[in-house]
Amino acid sequence: MKKNNIKILILAGVRPNFIKIAPLLEEIKKHRQIKQVLVHTGQHYDFKMSQVFFEDLNIPRPNYNLGVGSGSHAYQIGEALIKLEKVVLKEKPNLIIIVGDANSCLVGSLVATKLYLPVAHVEAGLRSFNRKMPEEINRLLTDHLSDYLFVHDPAAVENLLREGIERKKIFFVGNIMIDSLEGAKKKIKNLKFYKKFGLKEKEYALLTLHRQENVDDKEIFQGIITAIEKIQKRIKVIYPLHVRTEKRIKEFGFWTRVKNMKNLIITPPLSYLKTLSLMAGSRFVMTDSGGVQEETTILNVPCLTLRQETERPITVKVGTNKVVGTKEKDIIREALKVLNGKIKKGKTPKYWDGKTARRIISIILEKHGKQ
Ligand code: UD1
Repeated sequence: MKKNNIKILILAGVRPNFIKIAPLLEEIKKHRQIKQVLVHTGQHYDFKMSQVFFEDLNIPRPNYNLGVGSGSHAYQIGEALIKLEKVVLKEKPNLIIIVGDANSCLVGSLVATKLYLPVAHVEAGLRSFNRKMPEEINRLLTDHLSDYLFVHDPAAVENLLREGIERKKIFFVGNIMIDSLEGAKKKIKNLKFYKKFGLKEKEYALLTLHRQENVDDKEIFQGIITAIEKIQKRIKVIYPLHVRTEKRIKEFGFWTRVKNMKNLIITPPLSYLKTLSLMAGSRFVMTDSGGVQEETTILNVPCLTLRQETERPITVKVGTNKVVGTKEKDIIREALKVLNGKIKKGKTPKYWDGKTARRIISIILEKHGKQ
């Protein structure tokens, strides 16, 4: 390989990862000195959880699919570690890029560090301070193993410095998810996917719910369902059902209750563009997703976060997000406020401008050139 050439391994495993790697892959295409190796851990494998995102986002077929699939966290992480190490030893990349906070993140950072390879973490520094969230553990460990910490929320910089991470490793580059969103804006405007369900713009709410600490806890989940039961009497609610959540609804015996809600429309998991189209057309969104809190800020749609805390405080400080918790009465009260016109107006946070991938790749190339 020529002196300035660089081989980068990019690792992804779950839905939100795919949204974050797409702009990086697009940017890499512009640089002939970069050779990429794309690895999918296979944590998400159903067509609707994986392939459909590759199609919407024009992501090429991965060079490797580790085929890890479902299981406990120890299983998913352990299996992926062993398989990824083999790929890395064969491919010999100069750098591994990981995104987000799912298990793939921890896997990528551990394999790289153990093989003395540099790691770049995109979406570093986020902290919910809730160690019951598996993602929080991934974030903490990954950040402490990473060499490049690419951040998009000023609070993330503070978190990293407080934990003793050197300032020279931290780069405020903006939000990679918004690169994908900017690319999709025109398509979602034309799609008007809500029409497929007989819905009218701004006359429905969108619900997304999948967090382990919400849907795996029967009591918390029950409270949220009771709130939705009441809210759907005031406004139609559309709910693309995550595979984890569907399992729990059935296990906990909530299925009949959910089916009996006349104004609740349930769909299977939806593609990236269809979900964004529903989001953009909605009056407000109720969610426990991280990415949705950010996307609603850019789409200027009020967002009620059904969690006790957020690791993305900028969406509350600057954007349209409000953290309302998971208690029935709190969710209903906040939804009614929005329905009564009490809407939080948001602004665009710094560097959420669609140019984050460009900034990331340019920093990586500059640093690599100096090695
Ligand atoms: C994972 C991530 C989470 C991310 C979410 C996005 C971790 C720790 N969690 O959670 O951070 O927000 O993805 O969706 O990495 N299943 C299928 N088909 C699939 C994939 C999963 O049916 O293609 C089912 C399996 O029964 C599995 C369950 O969904 O047990 C949960 O999947 P899993 O990958 O363990 O975690 P997610 O809840 O999706």
